[in-house]
Amino acid sequence: MEDNVITVRGLVKRYQDLIAVDGVDLDVRSGEIFSILGPNGAGKTTTVEILECIRKATEGEVTILGHDLRTGGKEIRRQIGVLPQEFNAFDLLTVRENIAFFAGMYDRQADVDELISLVDLEHKRDTYFKNLSGGLKQRVGIAIAMVNDPRIVFLDEPTTGLDPGARREVWEVIRGLRAKGRTIILTTHYMEEAEVLSDRLAIMNQGKFIALGSPSEVVAQHGGGRTCVIRGGGEAAMRSLHDMGPERDGDDVSVRIVHKEDLVSIVTALNRDGVEYEEVMLKRPTLEDVFLKLTGKSIEGGEISG
Ligand SMILES: Nc1ncnc2c1ncn2[C@@H]1O[C@H](COP(=O)(O)OP(=O)(O)O)[C@@H](O)[C@H]1O
Ligand SMILES: [Mg+2]
Repeated sequence: MEDNVITVRGLVKRYQDLIAVDGVDLDVRSGEIFSILGPNGAGKTTTVEILECIRKATEGEVTILGHDLRTGGKEIRRQIGVLPQEFNAFDLLTVRENIAFFAGMYDRQADVDELISLVDLEHKRDTYFKNLSGGLKQRVGIAIAMVNDPRIVFLDEPTTGLDPGARREVWEVIRGLRAKGRTIILTTHYMEEAEVLSDRLAIMNQGKFIALGSPSEVVAQHGGGRTCVIRGGGEAAMRSLHDMGPERDGDDVSVRIVHKEDLVSIVTALNRDGVEYEEVMLKRPTLEDVFLKLTGKSIEGGEISG
């Protein structure tokens, strides 16, 4: 399970003066869901489209399933599946006809009806593509990405623009691919998606991977540890805890927890000084906190903005 199916070293892509991918190193393990999480313009699509043999790298070494990207493109393409960003199929073909059409382009073909059941679209088999909701269209796209029975599947923002319910249904389909032993490379700008779906993830910003690991590793490495928040503690709590380096945010005061005894010390000090507060709570950093800290970008409704 731990064999690398993709190895990337020093990947760079320049578009004239713009460095879209700026020295990316990456190993993707067999059978994992690996996500690249980043805002618009981070370089996610450029990165995956180089791995998909669609764009050419400016610099760097890439090996996919044992083949060098520069010489093995044909063999690599046979063994990968791709759901492009802003995917579209034929409006006036049915679900089944669309999947069968794309399957017909490959020597090695998965069974069309099995693909339809893989993405849970039996009930829409004979519906025109144009009459499907966004979530169902994406599921057709995933089936099309699987028509050549690929070992590695690239999904570029498969849930962008979907409502939360449809997004969760796509997550189930993606988990189903992993259960069938496929390796999945996913790009997303949704925090929760990366957190709940990925075995490992990279946070990408301005062409660079700025964090990499399992979601919990990334949070542990970059989250800055736990903090104790004294809600409504205000100036009195700031004074009471001044030895512990408190920080103020409105009426709330927070203190970094270094040792687990710190929590007792905090409550003891607050009681000793008769500080009034609403509640004391322990906060663990989330992937969102890490993202904010590393990129300075804001997040609205779990989605990275700007
Ligand atoms: N074909 C291209 N020519 C010139 N610039 C491009 C091209 N494709 C992408 N870019 C630029 O490269 C940067 C990264 O884009 P992209 O890889 O699409 O990022 P993401 O998928 O993370 O939104 C952006 O600044 C984008 O405008
Ligand atoms: Mg993109």
